[in-house]
Amino acid sequence: LCVFYDIFTLCLISSLTGEREKVQTVCVGKEFRLPVDSTSRIVTFTPDSEGPRQVLLEKTTVKDPRFEWTRDKTLVLKEVTLRDQGLYANKLSVGFTYETVHLIVSECIKPYRRNYGETFEHGIPENGSVLEFSRRGAPPEARPIVLWNRTNPETSNAGRGRLLRGGKVWAAERVTQADQGNYTIKDDDGNVLSRSTLSVRGERKQNNGSVHDVVITRLTPRDDGLYE
Ligand SMILES: *[C@@H]1O[C@H](CO)[C@@H](O)[C@H](O)[C@H]1NC(C)=O
Ligand SMILES: *[C@@H]1O[C@H](CO)[C@@H](O)[C@H](O)[C@H]1NC(C)=O
Ligand SMILES: *[C@@H]1O[C@H](CO)[C@@H](O)[C@H](O)[C@H]1NC(C)=O
Ligand SMILES: *[C@@H]1O[C@H](CO)[C@@H](O)[C@H](O)[C@H]1NC(C)=O
Repeated sequence: LCVFYDIFTLCLISSLTGEREKVQTVCVGKEFRLPVDSTSRIVTFTPDSEGPRQVLLEKTTVKDPRFEWTRDKTLVLKEVTLRDQGLYANKLSVGFTYETVHLIVSECIKPYRRNYGETFEHGIPENGSVLEFSRRGAPPEARPIVLWNRTNPETSNAGRGRLLRGGKVWAAERVTQADQGNYTIKDDDGNVLSRSTLSVRGERKQNNGSVHDVVITRLTPRDDGLYE
């Protein structure tokens, strides 16, 4: 790591003060593990967003109920949210900082692009139990549409898409702009396993004959005045 001069200097300063700094990226809803490796440390958190520094762990006492202290001396946060982004400092009880971890929290949204009329396939992980859809342009208070539900496939209230390849893939054929939006897979407990967003590119290039008619019938005004 200490190959370039500047980095070398940083490494030198760090090793002199005994400080180590790391950057870790975690997706929203996933687990963050901070190894502490000692029972005589103080761990503090300073959020990147506005907010005071807070103590998370003092020796073996967890000060924030969202965190867990494990037998292998690790501080665990089960479900990361955007507000958990910031600096985690692991200090010796006597005072100086032993190690800092800058946690970056990412939405981790996978973007998909399809042309009008193509098929959109979305993988379903083993632990996935529902696939929810929020249509682009829907009002924020609108509830997501359940496209698929493992416990009861009949409850799917959308009548859109079907499972392929032994249930490993959900597919919607002949996509239109009405299929644009966010697709979220959750597990039994409602934890987000994956987020994707679909964009559908125009249909106007194919406006000949019968295809043209289909396009016209698709362009129906919605309540909010936009077209879908
Ligand atoms: C799926 O569930 C198993 C236990 O049932 C768990 O060990 C595994 O981490 C889960 N995978 C994901 C991607 O959540
Ligand atoms: C889709 O997700 C993005 C990122 O979380 C969000 O900003 C946007 O409002 C969502 N759109 C809908 C229709 O839910
Ligand atoms: C999935 O189906 C089960 C059984 O009908 C139901 O209890 C559950 O609420 C459904 N989940 C969603 C997100 O609609
Ligand atoms: C009209 O659309 C059909 C497919 O629906 C396509 O095969 C054909 O090439 C198109 N014709 C022109 C002139 O674009």
